[in-house]
Amino acid sequence: MGREFLDVFEGWAKDYDSTVLGHDVEYKEVFSRYDDILNDVVQKSGLTVLEFGVGTGNLTQKLLNKNKKVFGVEPSKPMREIALEKLHNYSLTIDDGDFLTFRQPAEQIDTIVSTYAFHHLTDREKTEAFFQYSNMLEKGGKIVFADTMFENKQEYTMTIQSAKQKGFLNLATDLETEYYTTIPVLRTIANQQGFTVEFTRFNHFVWVMEATKQ
Ligand SMILES: C[S@@+](CC[C@H](N)C(=O)[O-])C[C@H]1O[C@@H](n2cnc3c(N)ncnc32)[C@H](O)[C@@H]1O
Repeated sequence: MGREFLDVFEGWAKDYDSTVLGHDVEYKEVFSRYDDILNDVVQKSGLTVLEFGVGTGNLTQKLLNKNKKVFGVEPSKPMREIALEKLHNYSLTIDDGDFLTFRQPAEQIDTIVSTYAFHHLTDREKTEAFFQYSNMLEKGGKIVFADTMFENKQEYTMTIQSAKQKGFLNLATDLETEYYTTIPVLRTIANQQGFTVEFTRFNHFVWVMEATKQ
């Protein structure tokens, strides 16, 4: 579920690490402070981590370097292959799965993480995901997701207009097509599923959401 944008990653996988370094002018701001964002997610994580949308394994590598146990989930085969090649010296699994359909690890997870991926789910699917994760986590367990999100609908609309004015038409189409949401919507979803939640901004687009199970 929420896999309708996978074709994008079939083509993008081999160039993805160049994009995160800011080499695509349209996405330069989206990926500004990329390392800081990933480091913040690592710093907010516990020891046993389930990661969705592993991509080329950049967050995974940082988690493993801090001696965390990582169970990866990634629906794109080319992305999985690049991540497994990059991380061949580490012990981890990367399953074919997605935010809603995945193999639950046999051991208790304390943190569920993801970067730059939750917007592939509609708001209804995001609610379903939180429902599942709430059932998996114990009290104090966390969901730590970094992604593009907006303070309100007006900021979202103005960001699309601004992208069009700059001639960033790929970015504008992406913003109009995928399921970017607002902080009030995410706050409501998190609270309804039994989490307190805090948001920290890292650039114009990306915030880190830290939700803690009560
Ligand atoms: C922009 S990349 C982010 C990769 C990596 N997390 C990072 O921060 O660099 C988005 C990733 O989410 C994956 N993805 C797409 N739909 C997904 C879904 N429904 N569930 C989980 N991952 C998904 C894509 O295949 C891709 O690897």
